[in-house]
Order: sequence, then structure tokens, then C-alpha cells
Amino acid sequence: MYRRCMLLESFEFLLTPTTPLARKYGFLYSSIALRHRYNRCKKMWLPHLKNCQDIFLDTVKTLPQKKHVVVLGSAHLHEIPLHLLMDNFERVTLVDVIHPLKHHLQAKRYKRLQLVTMDLTNSLDKIDKLENLEDLTQLAQDLAKEKIFHFDADLIVSANLMSQLALLPLDAVERKIKRPLELAEKDQICTQFAQVHLQNFANCTGKKLIYSDREVIYRDPKGEVIYTGHYPVNFMGYEKLKEWYWTLAPLKEASKDYSIEMKIEAYSK
Ligand SMILES: C[S@@+](CC[C@H](N)C(=O)[O-])C[C@H]1O[C@@H](n2cnc3c(N)ncnc32)[C@H](O)[C@@H]1O
Repeated sequence: MYRRCMLLESFEFLLTPTTPLARKYGFLYSSIALRHRYNRCKKMWLPHLKNCQDIFLDTVKTLPQKKHVVVLGSAHLHEIPLHLLMDNFERVTLVDVIHPLKHHLQAKRYKRLQLVTMDLTNSLDKIDKLENLEDLTQLAQDLAKEKIFHFDADLIVSANLMSQLALLPLDAVERKIKRPLELAEKDQICTQFAQVHLQNFANCTGKKLIYSDREVIYRDPKGEVIYTGHYPVNFMGYEKLKEWYWTLAPLKEASKDYSIEMKIEAYSK
């Protein structure tokens, strides 16, 4: 059984279409790891997944027409399953830097499902050249002046993606300067990348729905909080729909020393 799983996974690694950038930055590995974590944790994730589906369905009810939906950061569509998208819209577009093999196969089968493979930060091809934090701050400022993406649809969903956008650029700088960045330095970059995302997202044409983790909480085995992280993002112009807590990694999932919980917030515009 174990050998069969290993074999299937090797095929998945070999057969999943990837761009050189996605391979270089380990997105294929992360994508497969995310699916495994989902399989291990899905019971704990159920309340989070239900919240995502409920706010999606409530938003769909408010739409004057349902021709086209776009999901940014679609990954495996754990949060809004493909059947809900296909049942409610004539056309479905999934956008991510990497798409799982099953979505490639489904896109071949269903003409009304389209995959767009792109870097929604437009930064990944530039991070090799970053020498220090000042370069990264400058890059974030330059990106703020660009139109990085634009989608026109009845509904555009940014699906738990925003907090991840600065992670690889931050890693790249830490490797170059050979020291971990201070939390305040990381927060500043995360905020800049999140604002650039929100700005491009807000300029898309159609109803917008975004949910994202806004706070991370680490607890020790006794349940005591040992770390809380949050970076400020301005959602001005958006309507807050709901917030909830998601146990992303119970104790012993990511570490035997702590569990990881996220505060998720959902907004529409
Ligand atoms: C936490 S997952 C989103 C979960 C997903 N909504 C679901 O229901 O399974 C974040 C996704 O963002 C994608 N991502 C991260 N950085 C990206 C970037 N720069 N451009 C496009 N997608 C990116 C990752 O590949 C990953 O699939």
C-alpha cells in the first residue's frame, strides 16, 4: 500500500505541468504537501471549509448573473470545491502559480473550465536579483505602480492567498543577507505585498470576495499562547462579512511543541 502511494506520488511529481519558476521555488512540492495536510487534518478543517463555502454561496445569491467566476489561489479547491463552482456558473477560471494534476485533467474534459497559470505578484522572476531588504522594499513600491492582474467576471474570489504572497521574496532576502529578518521588517513587506494584491483585486471588474488569514497563533501543548503574529492591511472600501478561527495544524502536525491556529477574515466589494 505504502509503495503504491509512493509510486502514485512520483507520477504526480512527473506529470503535473509546471513552469520553471514554480519548480524553482518549490510550488509543486508545496502543492502536494498541502493536499497531504488536508487529508490528515480535514476533520479539524471542516468548520473553516464550511465557512468558506457558506460565504461563497451567500455571495452567489446576490449576483445579478452567473456567467463567469474566477478563483485566485485556487490550489486544490478545498475551500470552494469545483462542483460548487461548476454548478453555479457557466464558466470557471482558476488562477494559481501551479495547478494540481486533477485540475489539468478536468480542464481537458470540461471546456467551461479554464486554468490560468501566473505569478499574481509579478515578483518571482525578480527575487534572484534582490541583495537586501532595501531592494525588496523598492521592488514592492515598484509593483504598487503596476497593473499586475485584471479579471472581468461576475464573481472574483481571492481564496486564502494574500498572506502567502511575500513569503518567497522574504526567504530570498534572508538567504542573501544571511540573517533572519526582524518581525517588524517582515510585517512591513507582507503589508506592502498584501496592499498591492488588494489594489489589483479591487480594480477587477465584477463582485469581489476575499478571505485570508489575518492573524496566526501558536499554542504550546498546554494550550497557552506562545506567539501571535499579525500584519496591518487596510481593507478600506471593502465590507467585512465574517471572521473565524481555523486550526491549520493541531499539535504534532507541524511540531510536537506547538499547534497553529489562524484567524480568517472575509470581505466583499
Ligand atoms: C493556501 S493555498 C490556497 C488554498 C485554496 N484556496 C484551497 O481551497 O485549497 C495558497 C495558494 O496560493 C498559491 N500562490 C502562492 N503564491 C502565489 C503567487 N505569487 N501567484 C499565484 N499563486 C500563488 C499557491 O500555489 C497555493 O496554491
